[in-house]
This record gives sequence, structure tokens and C-alpha cells, in this order.
Amino acid sequence: MKIAFFDAKDYDKNSFIRANGDDRYEIVFYETRLTKDTCRLAEGCDVVCVFVNDDVNREVIDELVKMNIRLIALRCAGYNNVDIEYAYGKIHVVRVPAYSPYAVAEHAMALLLTSIRRIHKAYIRTKDFNFSLNGLTGFDLHGKTVGVVGTGKIGRIFIDICRGFGMNIIAYDKFPAADSGIEYVTLEELWARADIISFHCPLTDENRHMVNASTIAQMKKGVVLINTSRGALIDAEALVEGIKARQIGAACLDVYEEESNVFFHDYSGHIVDDDILARLISMPNVIVTSHQAFLTEEALSNIADTTLKNVGEFFENEYSANEVCYKCPQLKECRQEHNKKCF
Ligand code: NAI
Repeated sequence: MKIAFFDAKDYDKNSFIRANGDDRYEIVFYETRLTKDTCRLAEGCDVVCVFVNDDVNREVIDELVKMNIRLIALRCAGYNNVDIEYAYGKIHVVRVPAYSPYAVAEHAMALLLTSIRRIHKAYIRTKDFNFSLNGLTGFDLHGKTVGVVGTGKIGRIFIDICRGFGMNIIAYDKFPAADSGIEYVTLEELWARADIISFHCPLTDENRHMVNASTIAQMKKGVVLINTSRGALIDAEALVEGIKARQIGAACLDVYEEESNVFFHDYSGHIVDDDILARLISMPNVIVTSHQAFLTEEALSNIADTTLKNVGEFFENEYSANEVCYKCPQLKECRQEHNKKCF
């Protein structure tokens, strides 16, 4: 079994080589992303293994199918970068639904605390022996209201962490969890009541740019936004305007709409062409990390183990527990219902 592994970084290689200890699979690591132009690198392989910024569009899918590749193994949870509707009936898609929800939820809180207690500013100051406190005033989280959008695995852990801080929790989810003890509200109410809003839902056509000029206007003045989910949930241009108008108090971003052009690469010493990103980074109340929330030892090891297990399961069994298709979100339990592959 041969796997073409795209967008490989050193930390990926280490964890996959470790997980593939008995050399069960032949893994060919490519630093390049999977695109129409790089598809041919997968010639002779059975599986392509891809990450969040590999754009698995129709053209790429057609090329993979032509090369008899049977499986797209995502080594991430979100699958918005794969045209799964087009893939249906042509090539199967598996993912890693959970590798460490704690990693992402804890990173969201790390960003929030850094931002509101100005740790990023204080760190630079004391490195330069500047011990002044001017401009570093923060605010207590205790007693503040946090609005959580998406109460799945990561959202719930984030809620637990916030409870530990004595915060009031309100949430919105398209499919609210019964008996969770969470106070669900409409999105309109969440925008109006929350001091802090954290996004933990998948990106879909329906919620693309759910944060836009109109919804920003409905939020509390000074609201803090945290996005560790997917960049395109937020209209980045509207975000810049909202911050300039002082409507948004701070933004903590681990993801960004156009991140695929820059994130995961070292552009220090280069001129970055993306003016919106450059503007955001220049703002004192914006913190950007480059899709780092998942990056813990535990998560990397779980990602590698589950991805290789997914591949084994797909070729050996009738049933792939972690397969996704475009019908899954509507039917929710579709695979469990028919107990076999999605098609
Ligand atoms: P999950 O599937 O456990 O939970 C997602 C929740 O969102 C579910 O409760 C679902 O009902 C809800 N939802 C679906 N559509 C919605 C909508 N339109 N509006 C509001 N809620 C909606 O997923 P999990 O593991 O909690 O991950 C959440 C997201 O976090 C992923 O979709 C992914 O985009 C992102 N993520 C980011 C990582 C990072 O490194 N920054 C790493 C892993 C995931």
C-alpha cells in the first residue's frame, strides 16, 4: 500500500514515521501541496494524504480518479477543502474526526488570555527591560458572558474551561445538544449578549462570512472574537473595518480566510502581498497564530495513528468509521445506519 503524503512538514514526518513503525505502508512525503499541477506525484499510489490547505477540487479529484487512487485520507477534522459532493461515487474520503479537542480549546483560551491581559505586549517589553505598565490594563474574565458558536467536541471543552473561569456561557448550534445544560440562544441573541465570542463550528456554504458588517454591528461594543475554526467564517475586510471603528475590541485568529497562501510558511524577510492580513497583524489588539491550535504532541500522534488506521480499515473492511460524504451532515448518522462505506 503506497501513500502520497502532501504538504508534509517535519513534525508530520516524525509522527507518521513513528506511527508506521513496522513500515506497513510505503509513505512518500512531498512538501508541496496537492494541486492540479502536483497531482501526478501520486502516480502509482493507492492513497493521497492531505491537510487543511490542500485544495481538493473537481479537477484534482478527476486526476486522482484517472490514476486509480481510491482514497483521500485527510489528516484533519474539517473537510471544507474537499469537494465531497463531486467526490461522491468517484473516490472515498476519510478524516480524523477528533485528535485532541483539548489542544484546540486550550489554544483558544491561550489566545484570549494573551490578548486581554496584553501578554504579547508585556513579553516584548520586559525582553527590552521596559517594565512600564502603561497601556497593559486588561479585564477580568470572571462574570463575563462568552458566546460559543458550535458546541461539538471542541466547543464543549472550551465551555468547560470558561466555566472554570466563572464566566457565563451562552451558545448557538445548528443541532443543539439535548440535556447538555448549555443555554442555547439564537445567533441574534448571542451577538447582542456576548462579551467574547468563540467559533467552534465547521465552515459550510451556509455560514461562510457569518461574521460580516451587518452581524458585527449587532455585537456589543468592544467584543472580543476568537476564531480557531475556519477563516472564512469571518469576512476579514469587515473585521478590519469593525476594529477600526472600535466596535470590535480584539480579535484572536488562528485561522484566516486566505491563509492557504501564507500560513505554514516562513515569509520573514519577504513582502507579504495580502494587505488585509498585513493590516490585521499591524493592529495591537489582533493576535494571529498560523493554524497552530492543533499542534500538540498528543494531537500529532493521534492524527498519525488514526490516519493510518483509516487507511487500513478502508482497504480491509466493508465499513470505514471515519468516512465522510456530502450526505453525512444531513443524515447525520448515515454510515452507522447502513453499516458500510458511504457508496
Ligand atoms: P464537531 O463536529 O465535534 O462539532 C461541530 C459542532 O458545530 C457540532 O455541534 C455541529 O452541530 C455544529 N454546527 C454545524 N454546523 C453549524 C452551523 N452552521 N452553525 C453552528 N453550529 C454548527 O467538531 P469539532 O471537533 O468540535 O471541531 C470544530 C471545528 O474546529 C472543525 O470543524 C474545524 O473547522 C475546527 N478545527 C480547527 C483546528 C485548528 O487547528 N485550528 C483543529 C481542529 C478542528
